[in-house]
Amino acid sequence: MKKPNNNKLPPGPNPFPIIGNILELGSHPHKSLTKLSQTYGPIMTLKLGNITTIVISSPQLAKEVLHKHDQTFCDRQTPDTLTALDHHKVSVIWLPSRNKWRKLRRICADNLFSVKKLDSTQVLRQKKIQELMDFVKEKSEKGESLDTGNAAFVTVLNSISNTFFSIDLAHYNSLESQEFKDTICGIMEEIGRPNVVDFFPIMRMLDPQEERIQRRALEVESNGRKDLLDSLLDLMLEDNSELSRSQVLHLLMDLFNAGIDTTSSMIEWTMTELVRNPKELRKVREELHQVLGKEQQQIEESHILKLPFLRAVVKETFRLHPPAPFLLPHKSSSQEDIELCGFMVPKNAQVWVNVWGMGRDSSIWTNPNEFMPQRFLENNNNIDFRGNDFELIPFGAGRRICPGLPLASRSVHIVLASLLYGYDWKLPNELEAEGIDMSENFGITLHKAQPLQIIPIQT
Ligand code: HEM
Repeated sequence: MKKPNNNKLPPGPNPFPIIGNILELGSHPHKSLTKLSQTYGPIMTLKLGNITTIVISSPQLAKEVLHKHDQTFCDRQTPDTLTALDHHKVSVIWLPSRNKWRKLRRICADNLFSVKKLDSTQVLRQKKIQELMDFVKEKSEKGESLDTGNAAFVTVLNSISNTFFSIDLAHYNSLESQEFKDTICGIMEEIGRPNVVDFFPIMRMLDPQEERIQRRALEVESNGRKDLLDSLLDLMLEDNSELSRSQVLHLLMDLFNAGIDTTSSMIEWTMTELVRNPKELRKVREELHQVLGKEQQQIEESHILKLPFLRAVVKETFRLHPPAPFLLPHKSSSQEDIELCGFMVPKNAQVWVNVWGMGRDSSIWTNPNEFMPQRFLENNNNIDFRGNDFELIPFGAGRRICPGLPLASRSVHIVLASLLYGYDWKLPNELEAEGIDMSENFGITLHKAQPLQIIPIQT
């Protein structure tokens, strides 16, 4: 990458002394920055405190950063809250893209997210979906509404904990699940606490290693299936293992942290858009019945390929409600100022990619604020969210792309297909579709501020 031949920063609003442009962010920074980019353009500079922040808001520039100059922009800006426990020095999410990070990414890719591994753990996740459907049936028989976000959270939490450890962590009706949800949602703030095991009790499972090692020997013999914990223990126990117990704890914590909230929030937003748009709800249910017949026992992950409209519904929701509106903060790994599209990017600047803004850009999408899944079957029919089409990159792209994408994609589609196949969904009587509260809580994950409560009607 070239050194800049001028000192021109990308344009942006004038910063105040000390605080810079922090006040411009407001409570919904994704909206404020989208608006500012309409004035200053798709590459813009803000000063957030003393950190120079470059905000990217177009697919072309996102491609420059995440594809063409991927190697330069693949480090992370670490939030201060994480530096206290040195979590950033072991975390796959926050490590710079060097050896340690590469090793952890390889462990994830080989031991968890490969097609073979995911196929072999599918049956564990399917059991969790069946439990969700039992809970939905109970609600339907009582005529009660379902808190979709909460139900999705418990299902995704247990699917992931079963994929990793073959155990459940929460139940639909218990207070525990709320506690767990609060823990995960607050985890970024709490991460500085000194004892990771106290903080995340599930990690105690790793402590009596001996017991687990003996138990798994019996289990593996009996069913031949290994979960992630088994694979990680194998790696830890290898001679000259480079993987320490502490690294395993941090990796597991990262995966829970990054995976559960994002996936369940996505399911809640999709159901919200569908009940707001009854025509699309009807269409997606019709497709399910046409493709799977009326008497399907259980939907399998392999069915997703046969459901193009459902896949379009998911893409459309990713476009409007990307769970990570700015991805995670990237940073240049260069020790010097560098040039990007004719501008100078200072060496310690962080880079945010405003995926939310790109999803609502009328120069890319017609009627960008409307929920129109059909667009992905017509003009935009080749666009996917796997990091090659820069108009739609809810998982990022390039070497920092979300490693959990294959599991997240399977989970989102299968939970939605299961909820929609046997049930029609109605709002409680007092609420009209136009009255659904669509407000968002901004954080690393963009949550729906008010939980979606809807009634399942068995069909
Ligand atoms: C709908 C669900 C999900 C979405 C939208 C999502 C999105 C993202 C995004 C945008 C990033 C940052 C990419 C970048 O910086 O350019 C990321 C990173 C990450 N995600 Fe996901 N994610 C989801 C589910 C998951 C799941 C299920 C897991 C694991 C169980 C996971 C694990 C991670 C990890 C470990 C990272 C950090 C990777 C790194 O920095 O090298 N995610 N994800």
